[in-house]
Amino acid sequence: MIKKCLFPAAGYGTRFLPATKAIPKEMLPILTKPLMQYGVEEAYEAGIGTMAIVTGRGKRAIEDHFDVSYELEHQIRGGAKEVLLDEIRSLISRCTFSYTRQVEMKGLGHAILTGETLIGHEPFAVILADDLCDNEGDEGGVLSQMVALYERYGCSIVAIEEVSKEETNKYGIIAGDEIEPGVFRISHMVEKPDPKEAPSNLAIIGRYILTPDIFDILRETKPGKGGEIQITDALLTQAQNSKVLGVRFKGKRFDCGSVEGFVKATNYFYQKQASSDEVR
Ligand code: G1P
Repeated sequence: MIKKCLFPAAGYGTRFLPATKAIPKEMLPILTKPLMQYGVEEAYEAGIGTMAIVTGRGKRAIEDHFDVSYELEHQIRGGAKEVLLDEIRSLISRCTFSYTRQVEMKGLGHAILTGETLIGHEPFAVILADDLCDNEGDEGGVLSQMVALYERYGCSIVAIEEVSKEETNKYGIIAGDEIEPGVFRISHMVEKPDPKEAPSNLAIIGRYILTPDIFDILRETKPGKGGEIQITDALLTQAQNSKVLGVRFKGKRFDCGSVEGFVKATNYFYQKQASSDEVR
C-alpha cells in the first residue's frame, strides 16, 4: 500500500564540516556503507520500491551512488572485490530512484512539500537518513513496523522514542493517549520545546508515514521554530482535524547527525559485523 519513500537530503550537514564541504552528509559511511544506503535498504525491506529524493546543490554524489559506475565495475570485474558491490547493485536493479531539488532551505516541512511532485496523491513514507535504525529481533525494520500499523489504521504515523528531559529541545515532542501498547493517538506536538515546556519526553525520530492531505496542510503552515516550515506543526493540524499516531518502535536508533551518535553507530555496526564474522 505504501509504494514510495521520500528522503529529504538537501541539508548542509554543517555539524560535520569540513567533511561535508564537498560530500553530502547522507553519503558519510558507517563502516563501508553510506547512511543513505542504509535508509534505502530499510525502505526496500518495508516493501517500498520507489525512492523519491529531495536533493540540493552539491548532492550529485547521491545520484551517482544509486547508478552504475561502468569504469569501476569494468576494472574490478571477476576480482575478489567485486562482491563488495553486490548489495548496491541489487538495490539499484530492484528500486527506482527519482530526484527533485530544493532550491531554498526553508525547513523539513518545506523539503517534504518540495517532494510532492515525486509523490503525487498517495500515502508515503519519509526517512531522514541521519537517523540510522537497526533491528535485532524478528519485527523487521522500523519502517516495516510502521507500514504494518498503517495497514490497520490508514492515517499518518510518526516513530517515537523516549529521550531524557534535557534533550527535548532537539526533537519534535508528542503527547497523547496510549490506545494500544506502544501506540499513541497524538493530541499535541511541539517542535524542539524547552525542557520546561515539553509536554512529555516522547521524541519523534526521523521516520514518518504521511497521508497526502499533508501537502495541502503544509502549504498553509506558517514558519515556526527557527523561522522554518515544520512538519511537526503540519502534523499537529492533521492530528486536530483527523488522526495521527505515534509508535514506539522496536530497535535501535543512532543520531548520526551528531558526531557522538555517528561514532556510537560506527562502534555498534563494527561489533555486529565482527560477531557475525566470528560465527562464519
Ligand atoms: C527533525 C524534525 C524533528 C524530529 C527530528 C528527528 O529535526 O524537525 O521534529 O524530531 O528531525 O531526527 P532535525 O533533526 O532535522 O533538526
